[in-house]
Amino acid sequence: MNLKEEILRLKKELDVTLVAHFYQRDEVFDLADITGDSLELAKRVKENASKYVVFCGVGFMGESVKVLSPEKTVLMPKIACCAMARMIDEGYYEQNLKQINDAGIPNENILPITYINSSAAVKAKVGEMGGMVCTSSNAYKIIEKGLKSGKKIFFVPDRCLGQNFAKSLNLKSAVVGDGSDLTQADIICYNGFCSVHQLFTVEDVEFYREKYPDILIAVHPECDPSICDLADFVGSTSQLITYIKELPLEQKVAVGTEYNMVNRLREKNTYILSSTKPECPTMNETTLEDVYNTLKSIEDNNISAQNEIIVSKDVTKWAKVALQRMLEL
Ligand code: 13P
Ligand code: SF4
Repeated sequence: MNLKEEILRLKKELDVTLVAHFYQRDEVFDLADITGDSLELAKRVKENASKYVVFCGVGFMGESVKVLSPEKTVLMPKIACCAMARMIDEGYYEQNLKQINDAGIPNENILPITYINSSAAVKAKVGEMGGMVCTSSNAYKIIEKGLKSGKKIFFVPDRCLGQNFAKSLNLKSAVVGDGSDLTQADIICYNGFCSVHQLFTVEDVEFYREKYPDILIAVHPECDPSICDLADFVGSTSQLITYIKELPLEQKVAVGTEYNMVNRLREKNTYILSSTKPECPTMNETTLEDVYNTLKSIEDNNISAQNEIIVSKDVTKWAKVALQRMLEL
């Protein structure tokens, strides 16, 4: 059996849209009907008419699709988890809020913003407190809007993103639990991070700058602030793609983000800003065989509960509010 041909046949015969994030393996990415970053995927799937969505990505992305389009059946060939999203749940969220309250900042003075890399349950907590979701593509807009409330921003779960955006907006940030004075901060960050984007180091930047003095360094804002400070360009997945594709062909660029995506950007003069292979391990779990099995389960009317994304009504209600506040902007 030719897996690729079978997948194409099933896609044609069933009322299915196959969706893949930019970090997916090439063989999966190439067969998808919709590809994009997490924001594009959530928006485009919402506008798409098909009943079934087979989503190749990580759990929080599938959940966002389900929250925004509860009428659709959302299936993930592998329910892979984002390591960063796993660093926070409702309990840790509440614990951090209490620490902020104990520092003398009451909830009335706090506006929570969650990076889209969080569970629907955490998004619901944020929505219930009047807060919203952001992605790395729209974080400036969302944080600026949040600051207009006159409150301090409680930014979860990515410490680096919070610190990097605070710096670029000339704001003060602090991290809960690291001993810094929370009362002095405009943005109070939860202490989560992406294990993949932590792989890029100052030494990597120095190595490439020494080897190719004219090279440009372009990184994702999930990288540590020490790396973003040294970079020529800091941008979300889509912003990085646009920036790199618009460079003259002879311009060398070293990129600090996920391997699969960087690898398919340009044929020449594009380097991974690391001596390691920074693949997102969970994004990489989804194989063609998994995609085929999921499509086949739709055809056979035998969908496995393990593959279906279910979000409770209560969680959907407030997570949707938090997501929609972002989409309205
Ligand atoms: P995007 O929002 O840019 O798709 O990124 C999600 C992510 O997990 C980056 O590591
Ligand atoms: Fe999560 Fe990092 Fe993987 Fe993105 S690259 S999905 S933040 S673990």
